Amino acid sequence: MLAYTTTGSGPALVLLHGFPLTRAIWADQIADLGQRYQVIAPDLPGHGQSAPLSGDAPPTMARMAQEVLALMDFLGIDHAAVAGHSMGGYVALALLKLAPQRVTGLGLVASQAHPDSPEAAAGRRATAQKVLAAGAGIVADSMGPKLFAPGVLGDASIRRQTDAMMRATPVQGVYDALLAMADREDMRDLLGTVRVPSLIVAGAEDAIIPAERIQDMTARLPAAALVTITGAGHMPMLEAPEATSAALAHWLGNVYVPTAQSRSTNASSPSINRGDGRQ
Ligand code: MLT
Repeated sequence: MLAYTTTGSGPALVLLHGFPLTRAIWADQIADLGQRYQVIAPDLPGHGQSAPLSGDAPPTMARMAQEVLALMDFLGIDHAAVAGHSMGGYVALALLKLAPQRVTGLGLVASQAHPDSPEAAAGRRATAQKVLAAGAGIVADSMGPKLFAPGVLGDASIRRQTDAMMRATPVQGVYDALLAMADREDMRDLLGTVRVPSLIVAGAEDAIIPAERIQDMTARLPAAALVTITGAGHMPMLEAPEATSAALAHWLGNVYVPTAQSRSTNASSPSINRGDGRQ
């Protein structure tokens, strides 16, 4: 079972962190959104306090998504709005593909539906081998300078916190995630099938996810809102926590539309907006 934090009550929101990080990146959003929703933030397999994927099968985004579904089962959550940061977005898309009926809303934060190019995938596999010999520090060394918009580079505490998270990620978790990302599916066509409210949050200065990929995803998603956060890079939930929470809150307001009855009797029993007129 994945390690997780759950806060609040009401309709469910699952927040998935990126690579090689932990659920701690969502601390502000958990506090903000936990006032209206049940927020569940797991550590993905091999990250934070969660054990790596077990068995001999190759690591994949689908296997990580299955672990998230197992956590939802354990918590008795049939369906949830699912938002993922970067690699967490890849897992969210895999989860949507596996179990669309369990996803009431899709949120992609500094993420993408595009697969790796063959060169990028080869680079990831080479890095995975190096991590086995040299440890997770080599990933922190190469990713650290790309994570934040230049203005935030001066914010020592955010940088220190993120660097420590990356360096503490177990080698097996980093290795598996690199292979799973290298082999991940092209999810662009899946976007056109999404019938639930979706949100794309982009950092205007993200050095990892190209802006044209964000535009392409927005065009493909039938009911998407794009929120571009000025002054943020790849880590908008840390660089601009209030703006990120506000974007998520607005999206959740579209996912869980309060009915007249729930407004007057019970604020935590709204209906689900599936984005196709059905509820
Ligand atoms: C992440 O932040 O999860 C990674 O940068 C994703 C990636 O490398 O594709």
